[in-house]
Amino acid sequence: MQDEVQPIVQANLVIRNIKQLVTVAQQPIAGASGPLQVIANAAVAVHNGGIVWIGTDDDAGPLFQHDTAAAQDGITIVDAQGAVVTPGLVDSHTHLVFAGDRAEEFHLRRSGVSYAELLAQGRGILSTVTATRQASTQQLMELATARLESMRKHGTTTVEVKTGYGLDTVTEEACLRLINSLNALEESARYKQQLNQLRVVPTFLGAHTVPPEYRDRRDAYVDLIVEEMLPSFVGLARFCDVFCEREAFTLEESRRVLTRAKELGYLLKLHANQLSPSGGAKLAAELGAVSADHLDHASDADLDAMRDAGVVATLLPGCSYTLRSPYPAARRFLDHGLPVALATDFNPGTSYCENMQMMIGLAMSHMDMTLEEALAAATINAARALALQDVIGSIEVDKRCELAFWSLSDYREIGYHFGVNLVESVLVRR
Ligand code: NIG
Ligand code: FE
Repeated sequence: MQDEVQPIVQANLVIRNIKQLVTVAQQPIAGASGPLQVIANAAVAVHNGGIVWIGTDDDAGPLFQHDTAAAQDGITIVDAQGAVVTPGLVDSHTHLVFAGDRAEEFHLRRSGVSYAELLAQGRGILSTVTATRQASTQQLMELATARLESMRKHGTTTVEVKTGYGLDTVTEEACLRLINSLNALEESARYKQQLNQLRVVPTFLGAHTVPPEYRDRRDAYVDLIVEEMLPSFVGLARFCDVFCEREAFTLEESRRVLTRAKELGYLLKLHANQLSPSGGAKLAAELGAVSADHLDHASDADLDAMRDAGVVATLLPGCSYTLRSPYPAARRFLDHGLPVALATDFNPGTSYCENMQMMIGLAMSHMDMTLEEALAAATINAARALALQDVIGSIEVDKRCELAFWSLSDYREIGYHFGVNLVESVLVRR
């Protein structure tokens, strides 16, 4: 009697017939080549949402049930039909929850009014605060889920989402609860089997700007954040972020908010050096922030300090595109040895774009980043910017199954073929 052949790796999902598996692996992988560790004619095996095996499709044959389209013996086979597969894109900086739009300001800026002027006039962020405070939770939820759907269609599988358009305890808390419930909502209603459910990472950005009712007593607003909001939002947000800028919060105010946040166990992020050399980048280094974002006005000394403190530099080319300002000098960051991440900064003022492919394209066309650097910036380095680099951001054994399927014959078409959606679908298993 013949012994039954058992798979040597236990898997309940095998993805086969992958033309190129762009692993972005951080360790060399057998059979993979190039800086992104690409495997041609590949397969990936997954068990309970975790990647357990990657290799060539030929090697997958004897290991896993392979000649069936559907479940057999507990293994589901997915035929990638020759797609290029990358890690799901990670959008590590978005302001996804808001109502209203700012199209009028967008066109005003075309006639020469600057973003900073609008902000100083109480427009900009504050227009969105008014609209968001007036919206119902149901309306905000519908807007947020439609935006998430758009992100998913463009290949994003993990999204950081900030508050920052409530700016009072009640609305900020409602927005945080909404952000937390986005996962649960998808689970219950639309993705009953938890298929392709995006990972949402909540960030508290009460220090986005000073709300109108505190205009003449800004210290009292900082007190409110530090004494009331931060302590009561523990557990609702993974990160605390601050907009450290002339028109928003001073260096000292930012330090106060972030120091308290750190004491309470939040991880830290900063909107730093976006419109001016605000000192935010150095503060990020001083406080051990996970990332500092924007950085259009960061000096060499800022970059050195960030590198030495292990802070990820998150660059946001959608803002430069929208505000028609110079693009961040990515090469400087890379030459300083900093991990560079790319994100959309999806928001109604400076970057109304859900599409990470656009950011990769802008990074390549305007920031001198290579495709390999830009793809790493949109996956593993973006995962670093969320302190999730051990969980997502590359296709490696022990990471979660969060994949993007691209209808391409070669991954090198990314950034070259532009203005259309190259992603066919995502595949997420929890
Ligand atoms: O990242 N800089 C501050 N916050 C956003 C803009 C938000 C807005 O204009 O509504 C940004 O650019
Ligand atoms: Fe932002």
